[in-house]
Amino acid sequence: MLNTFTWLITGSNRGLGLEMVEQLLQSPTHTVIATCRNPDKATALQDLRTRFLGNLHIVKLEVTDQASIEECVKAVEIALGDRGLDYLLNNAAISEQRDTAFNFNAQGYIDTFYTNVLAPAMITRAFLPLLEKGKRKVILNMSSQLGSMAWRFGAPYATYASCKAALNMMTTKQAAERPDLIVFCMCPGWCKTDLGGEDAPLDPKVTMASLLKFVSSATSEHSGRYWRWTGEELEW
Ligand SMILES: NC(=O)c1ccc[n+]([C@@H]2O[C@H](COP(=O)([O-])OP(=O)(O)OC[C@H]3O[C@@H](n4cnc5c(N)ncnc54)[C@H](OP(=O)(O)O)[C@@H]3O)[C@@H](O)[C@H]2O)c1
Repeated sequence: MLNTFTWLITGSNRGLGLEMVEQLLQSPTHTVIATCRNPDKATALQDLRTRFLGNLHIVKLEVTDQASIEECVKAVEIALGDRGLDYLLNNAAISEQRDTAFNFNAQGYIDTFYTNVLAPAMITRAFLPLLEKGKRKVILNMSSQLGSMAWRFGAPYATYASCKAALNMMTTKQAAERPDLIVFCMCPGWCKTDLGGEDAPLDPKVTMASLLKFVSSATSEHSGRYWRWTGEELEW
């Protein structure tokens, strides 16, 4: 048990979440809890479970629903037995894409804020006891460089960028309150996924390999800070 690690990834039925699950399972030392809204329809995860029997647990989680979060915590406790949670990766998110500060949908703004900021806050709070039992106590809040004010990207992505900036701030608050945790945010790069789109220049296989290497070796030195998938530090 000494060199085995437990991981939980939200939004893992497609995109970067699915890629991280697949890469982590290549090592038999990893037990992965892959969460998604509809386990019955998560065919890619089901295929992985057949290939990596015992090391992958698929658990239902609608990240914006407190009752679903509580059910998920119970299911994870059963799956992990006497083990804690070593890594929590808050990955699930949505985007209003290229909307602007004067041309946005108010409900879309609320939904994005709920999914991308409030949900990871609720999930991290709910999993705190299991993280405290874990050997690593690492939390990744998947952000985006679009949330960087220093970057000055311009008008588009107003809702998404505002939410990621708020997620970044929450990360610094979590790190300040709990120096015993290693909690940081990262930009995974502009990757080819449903959210990133077809024009994205980066292959999730490449970016997630680098990002997972960084996450696996993170220490308290990395906590409360903002990192690119390559391991460079980003300016807020
Ligand atoms: N791709 C990029 O270029 C890029 C760039 C910067 C940052 N990011 C960040 O990287 C992360 C992953 O992005 P991605 O490109 O993999 O996105 P994606 O392909 O659109 O996948 C998003 C995932 O989040 C899940 N999700 C959304 N709302 C949810 C909810 N309410 N409850 C549970 N799950 C929910 C989706 O589940 P369903 O299948 O059920 O909808 C899906 O599994 C996000 O945090 C994103 O902001 C991505």
